[in-house]
Amino acid sequence: GPYGAQRRHASKHRFFAVELSQALFDFVIQRLPTQEEMAVKEDVRKLLERLIRTIEPDSRLLSFGSTANGFSLRNSDMDLCCLIDSDERLSASDMVTMLGDLLERETKFNVKPLPHARIPIVKLSLDPSPGLPLGIACDIGFENRLALENTRLLMCYAMIDPTRVRTLVLFLKVWSKRRSINSPYQGTLSSYGYVLLVIYFLIHVKNPPVLPNLQQMPPLRPISQEDTHIGGHNTWFFDDIELLRQRWQSSNTDSVADLLIDFFRYYSRDFTYNTGVASIRGGLLKKESKGWQNEASSRYNDSRERNRFCIEDPFEIDFNVARCVTKEGLYQIRGEFMRASRILAMRPRAVAALAQLCEE
Ligand code: CTP
Ligand code: MG
Repeated sequence: GPYGAQRRHASKHRFFAVELSQALFDFVIQRLPTQEEMAVKEDVRKLLERLIRTIEPDSRLLSFGSTANGFSLRNSDMDLCCLIDSDERLSASDMVTMLGDLLERETKFNVKPLPHARIPIVKLSLDPSPGLPLGIACDIGFENRLALENTRLLMCYAMIDPTRVRTLVLFLKVWSKRRSINSPYQGTLSSYGYVLLVIYFLIHVKNPPVLPNLQQMPPLRPISQEDTHIGGHNTWFFDDIELLRQRWQSSNTDSVADLLIDFFRYYSRDFTYNTGVASIRGGLLKKESKGWQNEASSRYNDSRERNRFCIEDPFEIDFNVARCVTKEGLYQIRGEFMRASRILAMRPRAVAALAQLCEE
């Protein structure tokens, strides 16, 4: 009868979800960096820190981005930030120029200083060699304290539910790179943008939520302005994850596969691209209320458009993380979300499904 059919349908789905979840774990594990790679990267960081200290003795060189937030894949680039604990320090662009010269003289890295970029950085790379078969790529910036804090925020979200959050994020990073929709320079979205889409979905779309909103939780003790603000931006969030784990448990029991299927469905069908802003801090916001309406209509041509796709930065709330996404880029990204939904809806065998999803 009809109930039998329904039950068979549900149990078929459960079988698919179990198999797909296992395939996702396996897929991601194979792409994690090796211990050796992480050790080489840490050695490179220490070496660079020693060199920088010959210019600025009171400086520290810290990792941020994927090497520090738990979302690192084999051969990811390395994001480093130099903090200088002295009052009379050189400007970021002077530091970039000086450090560029020093590294050119003292190391084997290919060095490219970009002192006049919006955020001045030195780009470094090492070509592949027998000991380092994939080479290494690294950006060094200065005083980017907000990036250090947003890295810590993402890391805390990853720690709350490591299995589901890390598997989803890492899979989506591989998928978006293979499908060529992970390059802000070509009008699509950065990895950072995709991570925010996942966290937004897990806090604000899934019901019951998979993650709590760390920026809206009541603090344990009174907090002062100066402790929580960096350059006028409120960077406070609940970061005692041990305690949080004792007090908060998600009642959402979806498997990683269920979440991935829903993620693709939500961003191919339900997210309101024309009017909505995805904010992990505040939920679904309106472009209008942030003054982020499209500026395309009369005065600007398409290349000046900044707000086709809107993702609010968690701390720098006037900053649209997806501002580089062009009309064509968004069309491509949405097309990929739909393609992925379509593939998973056919419930192919899991390993084949992942291979097809990530086809280059
Ligand atoms: N970042 C930022 N604002 C952006 C883009 C990036 O603050 N618009 C900072 C974030 O701290 C982010 C880091 O730069 O964690 C690195 O960004 P990105 O390279 O996009 O992410 P990764 O996780 O490092 O991904 P990948 O492995 O692809 O390099
Ligand atoms: Mg990076």
